[in-house]
Amino acid sequence: MGPGKAASLADATRGRILFGGDYNPEQWPEETWHEDVRLMKDAGVNSVTLGVFSWAKLEPRPGEREFGWLDRLMDLMHTNGIGVVLATPTSSPPPWLGRLHPETLPVDEDGRTEWWGGRQHFSHSSAVYRRHAAAITEDLAARYGGHPALVMWHINNEYCTYDWGDEAAARFRQWLRDKYGTLDALNSAWGTAFWSQGYGDWAEVHTPRRAHYLKNPGQVLDFKRFTSDMLLECYVAERDIVRRHSPDHIPVTTNFMPLWAGQDAWRWAEEEDVVSVDLYPDPRDPFGAQHGALVQDMTRSQARGPWMLMEQAAGPVNWRGVNHPKPRGLNRLWSLQAVARGADAVCYFQWRQSRQGAEKFHSGMVGHAGEEGRTFQEVKRLGAELRRIGGHVTGSHTRNDIAVLHDWHSWWAGAHEGRLSTRVDHTAVLTAWHRALWQAHLTTDFAHPEHDLSAYKLVVVPQLYALTDPAIDNLLAYVRGGGTLVSGFLTGVADQDDRVRTGGMDARLRGLFGIRTLHEWWPLDEGETVETDGFRGTLWSEEIEKGDGGTVEVAYKGGELGGLPAVLRNGRAWYVSTLPEPHALRTLLAQVADGAGVRPVLHGLPDQVEAVRRGDLLFVLNHGRESVTVEVPGSHQDLLTGATVEGEVTLGRYGVMVLRP
Ligand code: GLA
Repeated sequence: MGPGKAASLADATRGRILFGGDYNPEQWPEETWHEDVRLMKDAGVNSVTLGVFSWAKLEPRPGEREFGWLDRLMDLMHTNGIGVVLATPTSSPPPWLGRLHPETLPVDEDGRTEWWGGRQHFSHSSAVYRRHAAAITEDLAARYGGHPALVMWHINNEYCTYDWGDEAAARFRQWLRDKYGTLDALNSAWGTAFWSQGYGDWAEVHTPRRAHYLKNPGQVLDFKRFTSDMLLECYVAERDIVRRHSPDHIPVTTNFMPLWAGQDAWRWAEEEDVVSVDLYPDPRDPFGAQHGALVQDMTRSQARGPWMLMEQAAGPVNWRGVNHPKPRGLNRLWSLQAVARGADAVCYFQWRQSRQGAEKFHSGMVGHAGEEGRTFQEVKRLGAELRRIGGHVTGSHTRNDIAVLHDWHSWWAGAHEGRLSTRVDHTAVLTAWHRALWQAHLTTDFAHPEHDLSAYKLVVVPQLYALTDPAIDNLLAYVRGGGTLVSGFLTGVADQDDRVRTGGMDARLRGLFGIRTLHEWWPLDEGETVETDGFRGTLWSEEIEKGDGGTVEVAYKGGELGGLPAVLRNGRAWYVSTLPEPHALRTLLAQVADGAGVRPVLHGLPDQVEAVRRGDLLFVLNHGRESVTVEVPGSHQDLLTGATVEGEVTLGRYGVMVLRP
C-alpha cells in the first residue's frame, strides 16, 4: 500500500457528476480556446483533462520550461468554473529525449527499438526516462499543485509498454533476486530442469526474448508480473511527487484500459485515490452494452465504490478496422449505464475533434460538424441531464449478491503458448459467463480470489487456471461458511508458479466439487460441440470421474465422454466442465443463483432491458431500438423528466429512466 488515501473522487465531484473530457488546446489557436469555453459552458462541462500529451510543448528543449500557455489555460478554466484534471505528460516523451538518450526507448522481444513518432515510446526501466519524467512532473506539480482550477491529478496515460531491452533485463534480474533470493529458488520456480535451462549465474537470466521454440512459462509469467510492477513504480513515483505539491483534497488517478493484460489492476487500484477507466464498446457490437457492463462492474469493484469514466467516444473511434458512429441516443444510454453502475464522472476522449494528427477521424464531443452537429447537440442534452441527477447519485454505492472472480496472474499463467487449446482465451470465457449473468438480469461485482467473499451469496469463477494456496483456502472457507460457488473448467490446475497441481487439479478443490479423478482434458475444435443430456457444450470438455458427495447434474451424452459429468455438484459447490451454449449457461446460472437466494433486479424483464440499482435509485435502460413497457412495482419519480410513474414504465428507443421511490 502507498501512503494513505487522503483524497477521493468525492473531493472532485462535490455532489456533481464530472462531465467533460480530454482537452488538447495546444492543437488550436488561442481564439479557439474562448470558443471552447463558450461551448463547454453551453454543454455543462465542469471538468477537462489537460496536458496528457504536452511534454514537448512544456519542455521544447532539455531543461527549458514553457508554462505560459498552460498558466493562461488554467486561469481560463478557473474563471469559467471548469475544473482541471491535470495530467503529467510522461506517456509521450519529446523527440529530444529519444535522440539524446536512445536508451529511454523500449525494445521489443526481437530486439527492435520502438522510435518516437507515435506515442508511449518510453522504457519503464530506463533510469534516464524516469529522471526526466520526475523532473517535469516536479515542476508541473510545483506550479499548479495549489491552482484553484485543479480538481484531480492524472498520471501518465494508459500505462501499457513492455520492454525486453538491456536495462529492462538488468532490472528484471534485480526484481527476480528480490523475489527469489537465490538462483536455486528461481530454478525451482521456473522448472528449469526442463530443456536444460538451469541458470548457474544471474547474468544468464534475461527478459524472455525471441527464442527458437516455446519459452519457459515461469520466465514469461514473471516477466508479465515484472512489467506490471515496473509501470506501477513509474506511476507511484509521479503520484508521490504530485501529492507533495498539492493539498490533501486533490485525488490522484491513472486511467486503465479495460481488461488490459499488462497491468494487475487489482494491485494498481490500491495505489489510486480514484479508479478510472477508458471504455469504448463498438456501437455495432450486439453485446456492446454487456461489454460496457462488465468493464463498469470491474472498475467499480476495483474502486470499491464510485469510479470515473475517464474516456469514452461521443461518436466513432478510429482504431477498429471499420469505425461506426453512435446512432442517435446511444451515447446517452451508455453514459447513463455507467452512472447506474457507479460512475461519478462521465468524460470523453476528446473535447474537440483534432484536424491533424493520427486521430483526426476519432470523434470528439465537438466533432468536425461543430456546434450544429448531432453529436454536440446530444452531448449538450446529456450534460443537462447529468446535472439534474448528479445530486441524487454521486457518492452512492451499489450492493450486489454475486461476485465474479478474476485474477491477472491466473490469466497470465493460463495464456502460455504451450497450452492445450489456443482457442481458450481467459477474457472470452470471462465475458461469456458475465454475459450469461447479465442476460439473466443478475447484477454482479468482481472480486479477487483472495478477497473476503463472505458478503456474497454466490461466487462465480468463470476460470481461474492458477490459484494460490490462500485463494484455495478462501474458496473452501467461503463454501464452508454457507456460500454457493460455481466454477467453470480449467480452474485450480496450477499453482502460483504455474506448476501443475497433483492430479491436474488441486486435491482440495476436487474434494470440494466431488471429483474423484480428472482423467483427461478434451478441448473442442472451432465449430465442434459436445452433447449432454441438458445442452450442447462448446470450446472444452473434460473426462471426469465423480467422487464421494458429487451429484451429476448434467451428463455428457454419446461420444467418448458419454455418461460422465458435464455439470457436477457437491452441495453448494458446482463445477461446469464445458462452456455451455449461451442460452444454456444463462439458464444454469439463473438456476444456481435462485438456489442461492439471489434474485434479478426486476422480474419479467424483456431481453433488451437492463435494470440496475444504485443506492435507492433504480435505473431502467432499454438497449433496444423498439419501445418497450416494463413492470416496475410501486410508484416512482423519474429524475430525468420529473414524471411520476405507477406500476409500469414505457421506454422508447434507447430509453432510460432513473427512478426514485
Ligand atoms: C485512448 C487514449 C486516448 C485516445 C483514445 C482513442 O483511450 O488514452 O489518448 O488515443 O484511446 O480512442
